Amino acid sequence: MNEKGGLHVAIVGAGMGGLACALALAKHGIPHIDVYEMASNLGFVGAGIQLAPNMARILDRLGCWESIAKEATEISDASIRRHNDNAELAHVDFSYIRKEYGIPHMVGHRFSLAEAMFEVCKEETAITFHFRSSCSGIQSWMPKPTITVTPREGKPYNVSVDVVLAADGIKSVVRPQILKELNVDAEVINSGQSAYRIMLTREQMSSDPEMLELLDSDQVTRWIGERRHIIAYPISNKTIYNISTAQPDVHFAAAPSATYTTHGSKEDMLDNFKDFCPLVMRMLNLVPEGEVCEWKLRVHNPLPTWVRGCVALVGDACHPTLPHLNQGAAQAIEDAGVLAVVLSKMPDHGPKSINKALRVYEFVRKNRAETLVELAAASGRVLHLGEGAAREERDKKFAALKDRGGPNPDKAVDAEVQKMILGTDVVQVASDNFEKIFEDLKDVMY
Ligand SMILES: Cc1cc2nc3c(=O)[nH]c(=O)nc-3n(C[C@H](O)[C@H](O)[C@H](O)COP(=O)(O)OP(=O)(O)OC[C@H]3O[C@@H](n4cnc5c(N)ncnc54)[C@H](O)[C@@H]3O)c2cc1C
Ligand SMILES: *[C@@H]1O[C@H](CO)[C@@H](O)[C@H](O)[C@H]1NC(C)=O
Ligand SMILES: *[C@@H]1O[C@H](CO)[C@@H](O)[C@H](O)[C@H]1NC(C)=O
Ligand SMILES: *[C@@H]1O[C@H](CO)[C@@H](O)[C@H](O)[C@H]1NC(C)=O
Repeated sequence: MNEKGGLHVAIVGAGMGGLACALALAKHGIPHIDVYEMASNLGFVGAGIQLAPNMARILDRLGCWESIAKEATEISDASIRRHNDNAELAHVDFSYIRKEYGIPHMVGHRFSLAEAMFEVCKEETAITFHFRSSCSGIQSWMPKPTITVTPREGKPYNVSVDVVLAADGIKSVVRPQILKELNVDAEVINSGQSAYRIMLTREQMSSDPEMLELLDSDQVTRWIGERRHIIAYPISNKTIYNISTAQPDVHFAAAPSATYTTHGSKEDMLDNFKDFCPLVMRMLNLVPEGEVCEWKLRVHNPLPTWVRGCVALVGDACHPTLPHLNQGAAQAIEDAGVLAVVLSKMPDHGPKSINKALRVYEFVRKNRAETLVELAAASGRVLHLGEGAAREERDKKFAALKDRGGPNPDKAVDAEVQKMILGTDVVQVASDNFEKIFEDLKDVMY
């Protein structure tokens, strides 16, 4: 045993949160980390992801930002446009972000982000990946929490460790188990929204000068209409234009716990956006029939706790967020950064200390993550307003930004919100305040 007492951590899920946890824990000297992932590889659907400075800062410390940044595109500005006539409601300069936070706001590939974390993880001898291995639940919470792992081929087995981190996403198996123990009902709720994800190549767009102008910009463009919007930006060194939408969810409404992704029909997609401007319609028309991918957007009510015994929830398992703030993955990575701090700072490795350290993580992260969940939902409601006084009021605020500044109704690009999201370094907060928060917590036994 080394001075860290050989802490053994099991991570369920190798998504954004799980990979970031493995990486951060290893970099903080945790010597024994097993990651269980049900899929056979990193399979990341969709290619675009916004890489906000609060995420970049954490990844940079973990030694894997440079390779991501190399392939990413810096965003210089955002344009918010009316859906039907393409009129610009507001224009936001993003270049101040680099000055203010020392890191620019970038967009990149989901896969490069996962790959970059995975590559660094593979260099860490502390980390072992177990793919094709699904966790079917927790057998005991403390001391020595135990999970049951079922490999795709082979018999189920139990693993007892010191700490379990459940980064198993929105469909988490561990979350309902914790809630059941607490006798709380917090089912996944239907957000009533779904999303299409579309990628157009330069080749597909090449005969349309208006489209090329979008592809050659460094701009995030959002077209907002009643109950729906479209957000798009260039990725992959401007060879791909990434479009994602949000619209009322009609097909999934009846089956809230069934599949999350489905093949959508092109006809439905075009019908959904039929009152959008010709430029948008021409882009949607380029999507090949049979390649329309629809995502169900799901959320759940805030949980009473993220921690039970020596088990903690991470990422979408505890704070799934609507994509309107582009912070889901960033928040999972913040979780990971904080977990590494608390698990490496705790005074000993007894179950009481582990439980308290995990509750320090919850203390630092829960309010912030839940504030962003609510803010994303609220921003969606405002962006999706239909005709009427409220929308006129909103559009006045957009118009006022140009000369007087003030609040931006699109919270993803609002300066005050950005200050809160990008200006807070949760890893530093955890590091600076660990002892104080830890001391103030009472011991809990389960
Ligand atoms: C339309 C849309 C757009 C988005 N855009 C952005 C964006 O621009 N920026 C951003 O930061 N975020 C964005 N997000 C959110 C982001 O994708 C998620 O918040 C992030 O992936 C959450 O990471 P996670 O690790 O918690 O979950 P996931 O990435 O979903 O990973 C969970 C992993 O656990 C595995 N798993 C599940 N159950 C088990 C089990 N029982 N046993 C073993 N393994 C298991 C899964 O296979 C998966 O690999 C978007 C989300 C959506 C839906
Ligand atoms: C495109 O952009 C959205 C919104 O930022 C992002 O979340 C999504 O992953 C991207 N979709 C695709 C198909 O790349
Ligand atoms: C795992 O542990 C539980 C509880 O102790 C036990 O009931 C179960 O049989 C074990 N499963 C395996 C595969 O060993
Ligand atoms: C990006 O594209 C430009 C213009 O086509 C090219 O000059 C540059 O080398 C490319 N950069 C990368 C990293 O591929």
